[in-house]
Amino acid sequence: MKKINVALIGLGFGATFVNIYKEHPAVDKVYLYDKDKNVLDYVSNKSGIENKLSSFEEAIERSDVDAIHLVTPIPLHEEQTIQVLKAGKHCACTVPMATSLEGIQRIVDAAEKSGKTYMMMETTLYTDRFLHVKNMYDKGELGKIQFLRGSHYQDMSYWPDYWEGLPPMHYGTHAIAPLVALSGSRIKKVHAFGSGSMDEKLVKQYSNPFPVETAIFAFENGLKAEATRTLFETARQYQEGLFVYGSKKSFEWSFDDGGKPYITTLGERSKWGRGRENIVEAVDLPDYSYVLPDEIRHFTGKGGFDNLNPHRAADMGEGGHHGSHPYLVHEFVMSIVECRKPYIDIRMAANITAAGVCAHISAINDGCCVEIPDFEKVRK
Ligand SMILES: NC(=O)c1ccc[n+]([C@@H]2O[C@H](COP(=O)([O-])OP(=O)(O)OC[C@H]3O[C@@H](n4cnc5c(N)ncnc54)[C@H](O)[C@@H]3O)[C@@H](O)[C@H]2O)c1
Repeated sequence: MKKINVALIGLGFGATFVNIYKEHPAVDKVYLYDKDKNVLDYVSNKSGIENKLSSFEEAIERSDVDAIHLVTPIPLHEEQTIQVLKAGKHCACTVPMATSLEGIQRIVDAAEKSGKTYMMMETTLYTDRFLHVKNMYDKGELGKIQFLRGSHYQDMSYWPDYWEGLPPMHYGTHAIAPLVALSGSRIKKVHAFGSGSMDEKLVKQYSNPFPVETAIFAFENGLKAEATRTLFETARQYQEGLFVYGSKKSFEWSFDDGGKPYITTLGERSKWGRGRENIVEAVDLPDYSYVLPDEIRHFTGKGGFDNLNPHRAADMGEGGHHGSHPYLVHEFVMSIVECRKPYIDIRMAANITAAGVCAHISAINDGCCVEIPDFEKVRK
């Protein structure tokens, strides 16, 4: 099998991917870089990877680096992605792709020009829950999808400064991505509202007054979906949830993100004559990791990702997010090796991210209709 060399940049959350690249059968060398030398040394020691880079520039200049995976702070994604693509390297970037429509367009243009792969490393599209509901839908078990709902409730106080007051839908990808992926379509317009109020010091950085944003999306194929995102001063147990309402069966996330999801089956006419029975079960999730190479299958294990010490993920060798990390790495690496588009290709990434950016524009403008640009001029 052809092998590629990968550089991993940003070793906070990024540390959760180190050992997966190291053990992937189609990866030869792994290079590491973090601008914090202590973090770089820590992750290098723990993983046994000695290829430490001295700068981000070294990663893009080295001729033996084929692909770069960016796991750096949000404000850096746009410029770093463009630099990677311009340097003629394949690029994976953690979410969000960018935080403005102009930024998304610049990345789309850079990918088009370079002809290299771009993949947004959206964890929700490879959770054991998403894989299961997608499998049920593909087999026809849900019937027609009638409505979709996504949620991401997370308190981001005391996180690094760039999070302070971030417009909720600028990081809406975990709530929006599964809706796009399951719809088989493209979000074309949005109406959204912001709700609540928060401390003035949170409003300053992004001129965003809202701790909560909620959006209704219209898809090109006629489907509608709702997504809600909370970031500050809102008491709600963590959840990156997906709710899929089908004509035969529906799939609903558990309350606390870690519990069993619920499947409701629309049964026969009820014994009272009106309506149909609903049969509700909390289900165990099948293991879909058989699609992964043996070497990295064990990384789907329920991970202990420590938000406060993210670089320590290198100790644990597994990353959480419902087992999604090895699937993401495998898809990125194999799309390069097999010269094909990745599942979360640039067009899907642009639609997911732009839907969130436009939702915030709508929220700031009292729920007006905002059309989502079609980034169709991207490499097919
Ligand atoms: N489920 C998910 O998909 C998920 C989960 C967590 C974080 N994220 C994303 O991952 C990214 C990183 O999250 P985090 O919590 O580790 O962030 P962080 O800000 O805590 O850490 C980022 C790391 O990048 C390093 N860094 C900063 N500037 C750099 C530069 N110019 N070059 C190289 N390294 C640099 C920092 O030293 C730090 O170690 C964010 O963009 C976040 O949105 C996604």
